[in-house]
Amino acid sequence: MQEVARVVLALEADDVAEEVMHFLDRSGSARVVGTAGDDRQLVEAVRQLEPDAIVAHPSLVAPASASGPAVLALDTRESVASLRAAIRVGAQGFYLWPGERDALAAAAAATGSMPRLGDKRAMIVAVHGARGGVGSTFVATHLAQAFTRRDLDCVLLDADPTYGDISAALGVPDDQMHTIADLVPLVPELTPAHLGDALWTHPAGFRALAAPSAERAASVSAAALAAIVRVAAASHDAVVVSVPRELGELTLSGLASADRVLEVLSLDVLSFRAATRAIDVFRPSGVAARVGFVVNRASRSEITPGDVERVFGAVPLAVVPADRAVPRAQDRGRLVPPKGRVGRAFAKLAGRVLEDPEAA
Ligand SMILES: Nc1ncnc2c1ncn2[C@@H]1O[C@H](COP(=O)(O)OP(=O)(O)OP(=O)(O)O)[C@@H](O)[C@H]1O
Ligand SMILES: [Mg+2]
Repeated sequence: MQEVARVVLALEADDVAEEVMHFLDRSGSARVVGTAGDDRQLVEAVRQLEPDAIVAHPSLVAPASASGPAVLALDTRESVASLRAAIRVGAQGFYLWPGERDALAAAAAATGSMPRLGDKRAMIVAVHGARGGVGSTFVATHLAQAFTRRDLDCVLLDADPTYGDISAALGVPDDQMHTIADLVPLVPELTPAHLGDALWTHPAGFRALAAPSAERAASVSAAALAAIVRVAAASHDAVVVSVPRELGELTLSGLASADRVLEVLSLDVLSFRAATRAIDVFRPSGVAARVGFVVNRASRSEITPGDVERVFGAVPLAVVPADRAVPRAQDRGRLVPPKGRVGRAFAKLAGRVLEDPEAA
């Protein structure tokens, strides 16, 4: 039997709060156990009442934690600012009042039966390449390998429906690997065990989930991706999410969940231009502060890794050399062995991301 979900409501407008409260209470599957008019009251209500979900205007919520209540963002108007705020706080969904109230009630109800996740919390790293072909797939797969060599239980998620190619880079036929879309129907009750069943294990030891096919990509919402990442983070030590190049909802969701965002650059003007544009788009969602740069395919060029600091104000976390072994391995669905120049660059990158002082 489904439990009645316990909800704390946090909205600025009293009249809307009243309507939402009556509506949810009448729905029979969710009950408002507390209300809050500002962010401090909300923190206190969550601490005391331990609700299953917070239904709130996104501006009132602090970023969600993996073990805390689900956040369902609500607003009376759709705006980019509000949507970004919802993504920033890790909301599982964004609903317009009153137009989407039935979807809100269903989402609130589902939190009542949602399993409580443990306190384990992985380091979540999103990998983005603003310019096509800079090596974001290469960086994501090899970072997963480097985390595994540090004995971290790592999962690699390919969230790029258009250009996702992690399955090919790992040498797995598409029909032998589950995708993120396969988990979407389970999202309201997704457990680490469901996720574990869907993961494919690489010989190096990390586990992976492929990108959804283009036809099923639409079924993967930003909220679904956030929920999958949240469950992965609750049951692993490290989560690497390869996010789409396009700066849409899925990318912003992947970035919002991440502790570190790796922007992959190559040493050429167009890559720098594309990364600059991407960071301008990330900035309002508060992600820019978590961005670190990885220079890939470095070779002698007029542009040097030093220019990264000049242009982006940050020393690159790692400089991965251009190496013919990379396309040779990737074309055969293999990873470049962890020993050697490329492997050493990734060992250093993993250390930097984990803020291991020895990697500095
Ligand atoms: N350090 C490197 N040295 C030599 N070749 C590299 C290096 N990194 C990546 N490559 C090659 O560059 C090509 C693009 O790499 P990759 O597929 O990882 O890029 P991507 O950013 O994921 O591309 P897309 O935008 O298509 O998703 C591949 O052929 C890969 O083997
Ligand atoms: Mg790619």
